[in-house]
Amino acid sequence: MVKTLEWTPAGVVMIDQTKLPRTVEFVTCHTYQDVATAIKDMIIRGAPAIGVAAAMGVALGALAASDESFEDEFATICATLGATRPTAVNLFWGIERMKRVRAGVAGQPLSDVRARLVAEALAVYEEDIAINQSIGAHGGPLVPDGKTVLTHCNAGALATAGYGTALGVIRSAYASGKKIDVYADETRPFLQGARLTAWELQQDNIPTKIITDNMAGHFLKDGRIGCVVVGADRIAGNGDVANKIGTYSVAVLAKENGVPFYVAAPISTLDLTLTSGTQIPIEQRPSLEVTHVFGVPVAPEGMEVENPAFDVTPARYVTAIITERGVAYPPFTESLKKLAAS
Ligand code: MRU
Repeated sequence: MVKTLEWTPAGVVMIDQTKLPRTVEFVTCHTYQDVATAIKDMIIRGAPAIGVAAAMGVALGALAASDESFEDEFATICATLGATRPTAVNLFWGIERMKRVRAGVAGQPLSDVRARLVAEALAVYEEDIAINQSIGAHGGPLVPDGKTVLTHCNAGALATAGYGTALGVIRSAYASGKKIDVYADETRPFLQGARLTAWELQQDNIPTKIITDNMAGHFLKDGRIGCVVVGADRIAGNGDVANKIGTYSVAVLAKENGVPFYVAAPISTLDLTLTSGTQIPIEQRPSLEVTHVFGVPVAPEGMEVENPAFDVTPARYVTAIITERGVAYPPFTESLKKLAAS
């Protein structure tokens, strides 16, 4: 399986997700500013992958920071990376984890501090793969045999350090011998479903069809879809889920048609400081993503657009939240708190 990102002696190497599936190209981030740009421009995207990239960005920055102004530079590095994308809480989780490590070795020689930060970034990377495999193990049994799984956006290997969250659940169910296939919503405007989910699943030979976003209701109604599995960018304490724009519509249609709607996400995607999804900041992306497809205009020049990158699905539409520590069921206020503390 292709590596989404990797720590190398030359810097942080990432597969360029803006180029997939047309070409498989890699970008090397030599500085923390390069990592920040890669996150902002969505060369790397997906909540857990952003968290890992941010941790690696902090380590990269710390290696280059001067001894004389290390503390100031460290603060700037964290602030710069933290200003890239606002919705996925994993970004802030990754940065906070690195800050805690730095605080834990205060007073030690800076060479040791730098080594410790690099080791932590590598640990974040390794842990993320194990976490996704665990999410897959918990979620796989929930996927009905002989049916289609609908997913939205890309919550796969490309959105994580590897294996994926929602696609981890699908991979696990498929590997267990279940006869399933996948419908991937194309996921306008950035086409993460058509470009990335379809590419990943094709590589794994998991039977997959792309559908346009507006077809989801049609197929949810006709009985072939056994469940929906999506990822998450931030989950509030009450179980409200921020995920890629369009997820909410799918969730409502799933409930209307009696189809289970599962959210697969690591504990690091929980934001228990928020009591409701209304408090989750929603990123607004450039209008060019809507008015143009691969640089070709698909709207009249000068047209105004809206482009929120995420929406919030209220907890009442969520059947269960699959984490590496187990599956949370409603009422989520209690079940999520319990899982987070376990
Ligand atoms: O804008 P993106 O591509 O970063 O949005 C990604 C999603 O919404 C994913 O579903 C989410 O981050 C979960 S990834 C495991």
